[in-house]
Amino acid sequence: MKIILLGAPGAGKGTQAQFISKQLNIPQISTGDMLRAAVKNQTDLGLKAKDIMEKGELVPDDLILDLVKDRISESDCNNGFLFDGFPRTLDQASALKDRGIAIDCVIEIMVDDNEIIQRMSGRRVHPGSGRTYHITHNPPKKENIDDQTGEPLIQRPDDNEETVKKRLAIYHEQTYPLVEFYKDLSDKQSSATYVEINGVGHIDDIQSQIVKELEKLK
Ligand code: AP5
Repeated sequence: MKIILLGAPGAGKGTQAQFISKQLNIPQISTGDMLRAAVKNQTDLGLKAKDIMEKGELVPDDLILDLVKDRISESDCNNGFLFDGFPRTLDQASALKDRGIAIDCVIEIMVDDNEIIQRMSGRRVHPGSGRTYHITHNPPKKENIDDQTGEPLIQRPDDNEETVKKRLAIYHEQTYPLVEFYKDLSDKQSSATYVEINGVGHIDDIQSQIVKELEKLK
């Protein structure tokens, strides 16, 4: 199955993606995690993306599309994949469609901006895997330590309030139009299901809502 998780920064895409990817046995493709790995490894892409990401702006479409094209040609994507944080502009979504990549389901996780601004200050991340925690809503077993590797957790450099507000503004301007794009596609092609999930509430309850919706597709 080919799935897109759509939602504002901090809506819980990464949190739910980890779960869905295990449940359906498809890889989670997070363009944000891939870019952060490129920055850490100081690749050409990483050097181009670093400042843009720290400012909370979007990395140019051509760089993202090359990254995604290479990733989905890998063999673990033969049975589908889960996009987390991609596409993020109408040009990225159109490129996907033009390349004949048929998406089965778009899941929009809906959370309002004020809730997101509060959430982000408590987010902690394991940089090696992208695993995400929250100091109160989803804490690691041991404070500031990744459950699986025992390595320290960090705060992302783009999670300060000012940058989060900028990321939200960019989301509303450049990514939110994808809601109409995919709803419209779903109206025209019954195989491209559009699902809206209320992203406020307990993480497990949101997971259950998503499972219920995915069950309907079987
Ligand atoms: P990216 O890494 O994709 O960041 P994002 O979309 O801004 O999304 P986040 O990772 O911030 O949030 P999330 O929805 O995954 O939330 P999470 O589950 O962590 O992108 C980073 C940057 O890379 C971009 O700004 C851009 O520069 C660049 N980039 C990436 N992709 C690009 C693209 N396609 N095109 C161009 N540029 C691109 O949850 C957030 C927190 O809330 C966590 O602490 C979590 O534990 C907690 N939480 C989750 N659910 C709940 C809940 N129900 N209740 C309470 N807390 C919760």
